[in-house]
Amino acid sequence: MFDTKKSIVQELFLPQFNKQNIQLFIKRDDLIDEFVSGNKWRKLKYNIAHTQQQKKTGVLTFGGAFSNHLLATASACNVVGLHSLGIVRGDELHQDSNNLLKKCTELGMKLKFISREEYHLRNEKSYYEELNFEFPNYQIVPEGGSNYYGMIGCQEILQETSNDFDHIFVAQGTTTTSAGIALGLKESCQLHVVPVLKGFDALAEMNALFKYSGIDADMVAEILERTDVLSEYHFGGYGKYTPELLDFMEMIFKITNVPLDPIYTGKVFFALHDWVIKTNTTNSKILLIHTGGIQGGKFIEQKEGRIFS
Ligand SMILES: Cc1ncc(COP(=O)(O)O)c(C=O)c1O
Repeated sequence: MFDTKKSIVQELFLPQFNKQNIQLFIKRDDLIDEFVSGNKWRKLKYNIAHTQQQKKTGVLTFGGAFSNHLLATASACNVVGLHSLGIVRGDELHQDSNNLLKKCTELGMKLKFISREEYHLRNEKSYYEELNFEFPNYQIVPEGGSNYYGMIGCQEILQETSNDFDHIFVAQGTTTTSAGIALGLKESCQLHVVPVLKGFDALAEMNALFKYSGIDADMVAEILERTDVLSEYHFGGYGKYTPELLDFMEMIFKITNVPLDPIYTGKVFFALHDWVIKTNTTNSKILLIHTGGIQGGKFIEQKEGRIFS
């Protein structure tokens, strides 16, 4: 299916890090696939396996008009021979509203557009039951692939590394990726999470996902103790960014040739860089997880007309 061997661990050389004798590595999950990029395949892998085990013929999932998760689901289902159904937020939209929705349709995904009010119900048990009744052959996967199966898929990220890092940095939306990484963390390693949402209670959200997934409470307490939340790097909130962030991403691209997106990976890289300077950390081995957010190596910033690769 999707070959995670393409996700190499690459060493990056940045002046500030060299000065402080820090070895920086990046796990390039963005290289897994053009559409099923970054953490998308990690979160879909076991959700798809579960769908097949349940003998269901398709995956039903949720997303907004520009949801990379919808596109990844459409593409992955297309590859494995499952149907896909996307429940899209916004009943004013249609399949030609933007290129992402068009691409989902091209990949065989059926789209159902619903009002924002109805979309709000997406995690309600009664709404799930209604959808199950209406689409009995579809396995329902929550928005962003955020469930136990998604988390277990993300646990595999560290298994593909030497896992001997002192610090690991990862961006956070739903917390599924960071929770999966936390499950595979070595005792001597600290996890630094960077929520991209303003006012997000990262530890409470991680705790809820662990609890819902039946992870042992003592283990959860121990994991959360080693999790450092860098909550000041949301740049205004989800989907927001500043010229300072775009300049930083451009600088990183010039030095390393690694493309970043301004929604997730740009923010976590910025936070990491700032953390290294502010804490004056030295002699450490750090891993940054590139969770994707770009398609075909490109994130195109339309507002400012800037292209990062
Ligand atoms: C590119 C990218 N990075 C990071 C994240 C955050 O991952 P999570 O929602 O698992 O916390 C997402 C959201 O799925 C994402 O699209």
